[in-house]
Amino acid sequence: MDCFDELLKKTAAFGQEQLLRFWNELSAEQKKELSSEIDAIDFAALADLISKYVLTSNHNSIPGDLTPAPYFPLDPRNAEQKELYLRASERGEELLRAGRVSCLTVAGGQGSRLGFDGPKGTYPIGPVTGRTLFGYFAESIKRAGEKYGKKLSWYIMTSLLNREATETFFKENNFFGLASEQVFFFNQGTMPACGYDGKLLLATKSSLSLSPDGHGGTLLALRKSGALDRMAKEGVDFLSYFQVDNPLVPVVSPLFIGLHDLQKSEMSAIMLAKTGPFEKLGNFCVTGGRLEIIEYSDLPAELAESRNPDGTLRFIAGSPAIHLISRKFIENLTSGGNLRLPWHRADKKVPYIDDAGELVTPESPNAVKLESFIFDAMPLAKQTMVLEGDRKSVFAPTKNRTGVDSAESCREMLIERDAKYLEAAGVKIPRTSEGKVDAKIELSPSVAFDAEDVAMYVKAHKITEIARGAEICLE
Ligand code: UTP
Repeated sequence: MDCFDELLKKTAAFGQEQLLRFWNELSAEQKKELSSEIDAIDFAALADLISKYVLTSNHNSIPGDLTPAPYFPLDPRNAEQKELYLRASERGEELLRAGRVSCLTVAGGQGSRLGFDGPKGTYPIGPVTGRTLFGYFAESIKRAGEKYGKKLSWYIMTSLLNREATETFFKENNFFGLASEQVFFFNQGTMPACGYDGKLLLATKSSLSLSPDGHGGTLLALRKSGALDRMAKEGVDFLSYFQVDNPLVPVVSPLFIGLHDLQKSEMSAIMLAKTGPFEKLGNFCVTGGRLEIIEYSDLPAELAESRNPDGTLRFIAGSPAIHLISRKFIENLTSGGNLRLPWHRADKKVPYIDDAGELVTPESPNAVKLESFIFDAMPLAKQTMVLEGDRKSVFAPTKNRTGVDSAESCREMLIERDAKYLEAAGVKIPRTSEGKVDAKIELSPSVAFDAEDVAMYVKAHKITEIARGAEICLE
């Protein structure tokens, strides 16, 4: 029997019966598809969200008591801090050797700004070889495992939309030399897109327009997928979290891991000194005694521009989305299978099926997508820790094709980082009069996990100089 009546009752109670307007045209298979999508939705909860985030213009309010968050500086301020950093690095290495750390990459985003057809992690970013984003991380993770004598597991969050393509890519590339059981894929949740009138949109006559629910979905997805249980069995207590679009990130950093542990932090973050008041990075703030990251678009301009007596920005700390998270913290947050992080509204151009059954591709935003953000878990932690990172060695986001935060700027930063490693190892690097590297250089992460690796490689291969204009990859 057809389940139409039941579905109609369910949707009409919340004014969403338009989802069924092509029911009579659908095949049995298509009816099944649509009904299972509708069944998966908690319409009552969604109606609350729609009234709060779609039909109202006043969304998340910004606390009035924001002050800048404290952080550990890149260079220790005094002898005591120096000693702490040394101890922390040792502790981090110890935890890595004991196999208590795994990597976690969020790769469920749609990468719409990059405009690349395929999962973002499969994007060829290597300046010489076109090594992919996933390739960079995989080789680094492999090398880190060799270095610390313990293989690292790698948890990769995908969405329903890119899971299959991501897994296929890893299989085609033999997991980049990792053992297949080192890599664990898990899916995040989805949210339906909603028109400005509060009505959910159809992507086809038999399916809703669904999109990933934001990187905040990671925490619940880790529980639902069984990843947390798997980690507990493996003896993994800490997750080194990074985004798929940042190939410069150290996949594990002993200092960061060790400091997180010594400070008894539940969730930690790397901060970068912002390049200006309005740089598009979340801002580390304190409110009500808790650490909170406030989006760049939400920090009031007078705060963003306020300065210390020495002229530096008061709200200097920007977030490159690099975290250390304790497994127990995620277990506690998601116990009972629930976690409520605030939602954030994004206005997007979402193609949809109109009343006439035609696909409409809008030229301006027509719909709201709701996402939750991982950093909203920070205020929920009993203890947090923020450590300053060196921008040139940790952060090269690939958001756009050209310009700021683009594939182009990312490649330049990869070349510069690798050139610095080589220079530190005594290799002469050609530079232009403006100081830019005048060659294309790429170091395989297998030989360049860190400065020590590069020094060894340079010595073993007797490399003294890179020729001007060269295109060279050291594998
Ligand atoms: P972005 O906020 O840059 O979004 O994601 P995006 O989807 O990759 O790109 P645009 O905005 O469409 O151009 C930052 C990181 O969070 C992950 C992304 O894969 C990226 O690593 N992410 C984002 C998820 O894993 N799931 C999401 O729902 C959103």
